[in-house]
Amino acid sequence: MKILLFCGSLRKASFNRMLTNHALEAIGSRAEVQVAEIGDLPLYNQDIDADPLPESVQRLNRQVAWADRYLFITPEYNYSIPGVLKNAIDWASRPRPNPFANKKAAIMSASPGMLGGARCQYHLRQCFVFLDLVAITSAEVFVSFAADKFDENGKLNDDRTAKAIDKLLTALLAE
Ligand code: FNR
Repeated sequence: MKILLFCGSLRKASFNRMLTNHALEAIGSRAEVQVAEIGDLPLYNQDIDADPLPESVQRLNRQVAWADRYLFITPEYNYSIPGVLKNAIDWASRPRPNPFANKKAAIMSASPGMLGGARCQYHLRQCFVFLDLVAITSAEVFVSFAADKFDENGKLNDDRTAKAIDKLLTALLAE
């Protein structure tokens, strides 16, 4: 099983990056894992969506084609998906045949706020419809009050959150 993680924050001290690092540890040897590199993608422009594609886009396309599962770990910006993540999805959605078709995907979000980024998860699920991605519905992970849930080394320090993440990963990695 091959899982590609997308982190929707480029910030060095990002809570969602901490969550991504936790997911990498929690997946362990259960699957082969890669993290999508999305920080150096150009802004999507159909004029440059042509042969040859920008090198960073080719790299992303290889990662997306390689994976058979996806895990999106993202902040919520203005009640929605951060532009940097949407940009990556827009680029990755262009190859034909659709590389996402009928593959499973799950979402986690972290926010210092009370809802843990819940609202952006439903916008992302809406994108899954067009991408033909199969969203995991049996488990959800919203890391609310994120500043209290990671220690000074960026490690998750909340057992209930760790259990919820494990449940989500188990659902995502099931055959
Ligand atoms: C935010 N933030 C935010 N938080 C939230 O829960 N709902 C929201 O709609 C928004 N909107 C928003 C817009 C923009 C442009 C920024 C920069 C921030 C706060 C956000 O959750 C917080 O900055 C997180 O720490 C961002 O995630 P990372 O970078 O820590 O992973």
